[in-house]
Amino acid sequence: MVSMRSRIMTWATRWYLSRASKKGGFDLSRMALLPDSALMPLKRDGLDPIPALGEQRDREPVSKLPIPFGVNVWLVTGYEAAKTVLGDAKGYSNDFANLVGDHGASASHSPGGLGFADPPEHTRLRKLLTPEFTMRRLSRLTPGITAIIDQQLDEMAAADGPVDLVEHFALPIPSLVICELLGVPYDDRDDFQRLSMARFDLFGGATASLGAISESLAYLTQVVKKQRAEPGDGLLGMIIKEHGDQVSDQELAGLADGVLTGGFETTASMLALGALVLLQDEDAFKLIHDDDSAVHGFVEEVLRYLTVVQVAFPRFARKDIEVGGVRISEGDVVIVSLSGADRDPKLGPGLEKVDPHRTPTSHLAFGHGVHRCIGAELARMELRAAYPALLRRFPNMRLATPAEELTYRKVSIVYGLDTLPVLVD
Ligand code: HEM
Repeated sequence: MVSMRSRIMTWATRWYLSRASKKGGFDLSRMALLPDSALMPLKRDGLDPIPALGEQRDREPVSKLPIPFGVNVWLVTGYEAAKTVLGDAKGYSNDFANLVGDHGASASHSPGGLGFADPPEHTRLRKLLTPEFTMRRLSRLTPGITAIIDQQLDEMAAADGPVDLVEHFALPIPSLVICELLGVPYDDRDDFQRLSMARFDLFGGATASLGAISESLAYLTQVVKKQRAEPGDGLLGMIIKEHGDQVSDQELAGLADGVLTGGFETTASMLALGALVLLQDEDAFKLIHDDDSAVHGFVEEVLRYLTVVQVAFPRFARKDIEVGGVRISEGDVVIVSLSGADRDPKLGPGLEKVDPHRTPTSHLAFGHGVHRCIGAELARMELRAAYPALLRRFPNMRLATPAEELTYRKVSIVYGLDTLPVLVD
């Protein structure tokens, strides 16, 4: 049960809850008491959400979760209701202070930045980042992304025997792309890589992850200080050059940390799971290998089908409010199941299967509303470049272990593979 507990929290949730527990608020140890049915939105059967999630959605798209802590927790699995909740920043707050009773905490004090902030603080911080995520600024990263992918493919090609695609491809690519984006100097990249790997602590417990968070924040604060003295052309340098007087070093380190948190594990999971989809579907493999024009549609389809961020950040009802015909009371917690919503049959037929030929359908893999993923276009750039490059370099790539023996993260907010051994000769 203890190891299950450590897996169900992302680093951010752990950090907030442990902070609150130190202050005598929410007791972290009570997470172990969660009944199995409450973990339903985080469980999968291979690539698919467990059937119970779909059954729940068809029966009750907004339902009450059996949580024993004296808080009302609602699970939203229907697409329309999910979109309504995510799109209503006036009706729902993202501030964890609502749960832990630590009012007055704001994104500027809380690393992780945007995801837990409400407007107007959220609007102010997000405006600092937005210009760095326009297509014009992002297109400057294209040559760097290509070089990073090639370097990882070279590393895979050099391996003797089976090679783990997670370790050599899926994890390093987004981590190095975030270095490029932030403007982390080349000499510092080994440290950055090490910290980001430790940070996600894919297999460790809560304590190891907490240590990695404070270490990476201390490290990012150093990076920010260097950039303040000598601003470069990356995201941090540009914000310092353009708005340096409006933002503190602590806020900048928090934003950089939020970008790392938001952009690393998510993209890594998509790279590995998307590669697995290709390895198991000959038709899709051939299509992406042969036809440049097919990759856009394929990427949208796997983003929807895999929906690796299984649930959005918790929302807290700011007032008594109705969604999907259900009455939610002020202070109640609302969990939006993105993976449930993205397979809602109301969006179209056959969404339980991946179809590389599907005309892209609406999906919530990047969320919706003011907190919609700021890095969505960057993630798409990475995926659209990486999948075809992988297949063209290794046209004979195949699984080195039977698919049934692959292991996935058991219960985690960002779903992913532990390892993906492949043969590439
Ligand atoms: C395929 C990869 C990715 C997926 C599936 C993904 C998914 C998401 C989702 C679902 C949210 C909204 C959560 C909510 O509303 O509660 C989000 C927010 C966010 N993402 Fe992503 N993301 C990806 C890549 C990235 C990248 C590459 C970056 C940056 C480099 C990034 C940075 C962020 C940030 C900073 C937020 C918080 C935005 C806000 O609250 O205003 N993400 N992401």
